[in-house]
Amino acid sequence: MKIILGIETSCDETAAAVVSQTQDRIIILSNVISSSALLQSKYGGVIPEQAAREQLKLIIPVIEESLRQAGKSPAEIDAIAITQGPGLIGSLLVGVETAKVLSLTWNKPLIPINHLLGHFYATQLKFPSIGLLVSGGHSDIVYFKNHFDFEYLGGTRDDAAGECFDKCARLLGLDYPGGPKLAELALTGNPSSFKLPRPMIDSDNFDFSFSGLKTAVLNIVQSPQFKPGSRADLCASLEEAITDTLVKKTIKAAKLKGVDQITVAGGVAANKKLGDKFRAQFYGTVKIPPPDLCTDNAVMIATAGFFSEPISNSLDLQANPNLSLQ
Ligand code: KG4
Ligand code: ZN
Repeated sequence: MKIILGIETSCDETAAAVVSQTQDRIIILSNVISSSALLQSKYGGVIPEQAAREQLKLIIPVIEESLRQAGKSPAEIDAIAITQGPGLIGSLLVGVETAKVLSLTWNKPLIPINHLLGHFYATQLKFPSIGLLVSGGHSDIVYFKNHFDFEYLGGTRDDAAGECFDKCARLLGLDYPGGPKLAELALTGNPSSFKLPRPMIDSDNFDFSFSGLKTAVLNIVQSPQFKPGSRADLCASLEEAITDTLVKKTIKAAKLKGVDQITVAGGVAANKKLGDKFRAQFYGTVKIPPPDLCTDNAVMIATAGFFSEPISNSLDLQANPNLSLQ
C-alpha cells in the first residue's frame, strides 16, 4: 500500500487530502477543503491578492486536519503531490513553497501535478478515452492514450464554459460563483423559451467560443421586454445552449478517435444537465466524478500522483501559473 498527501491551492480553495492505493484501488482517507469563496463573493469574483492571503492562513491547518482525519502521521506518508499550475501565482506559491518545505523536512518525494490533468483523476480514468475539461478557466477536449500521454484536440478561443455560466449568472443578479446557482434556477425554467446561439457547434474542429453567448444574454437582460419573472427560463435556455455544444463536440471527438469512453472533469462537470445529456446521447461509457470532486480538491491531485514521477530535487520545483494542456 502506498499513501500520498495531495495539496491544491491554485485559486480560492485550500485543499489537502490523504489517499492510498492498493493494487488497482484508490481509497480516500481524508479530503479537506477550506474555501474563501464566500469572502470573494462579496466582490463578485476572486481578488488574487486576497485569495493568496487566505491561502497563507489556511494551508497549515488544512494539511494538519487532512492527516488527523486520515489517522496518519507524516512518517506514514510515501510522497507529497502538489499542484504546480495553472492558477493564480500568489495562491500557487503558497502551496508549492509549503510542499517543498514539507518534502525536505519529512524527507519525502515531491510530485508536481498539472491542475488541469489532475481534474481527470477525480474519477477512474480508463484508456483510451476522450476527456472534456470544463472549469472556470478552461474548456478543453483531449484524447487520452495513457496516463499523462494525450493529444490536445481543441479548446475555447475566448471564455471558458464555467466563466460563461458565472458571467451570465452575474448579469442575472446571482452571487459568485454563479454556475451552481444558475443551474438551480434553471431547474424551474423552460430551456426552449429563449433562442440562444450555439457558437462553433458545427465547426470543423474541436474549439469552443462562449463569449458571444454572454453578449446574447446581456442583450436579452437589457431589453425593455425582459421581465424578472423569466429569469429561470433564461437560465434554462443558457444551460441548454452550453451543454448542447459541449456534448456534441465531445461525442464527435470520440467518434473520430473510435473510442467508447468519455471522461468529463472540472467544476462544470457537476452540472446535472450536462451529465444527463452525455448519458442520453453517447453510445459508450461516460465517467463523471461525484459533484464534490468535480470542483477543486486535493483528492484528484493526490490520485494523479500515483501515476506520475517525483521531481529529482524538491527545491527545483517552481510554481507555473501558465501550465496548459497544449
Ligand atoms: O474546477 P473548478 O472548481 O475551478 C477551476 O479550476 O476553475 O470550476 C469552477 C467552475 C465555476 O465557474 C463554477 O461556476 C462552475 O465550475 N460550476 C458549475 C456547477 N458547479 C460548479 N457550473 C454549472 N453548473 C454547476 N452545477
Ligand atoms: Zn480546477
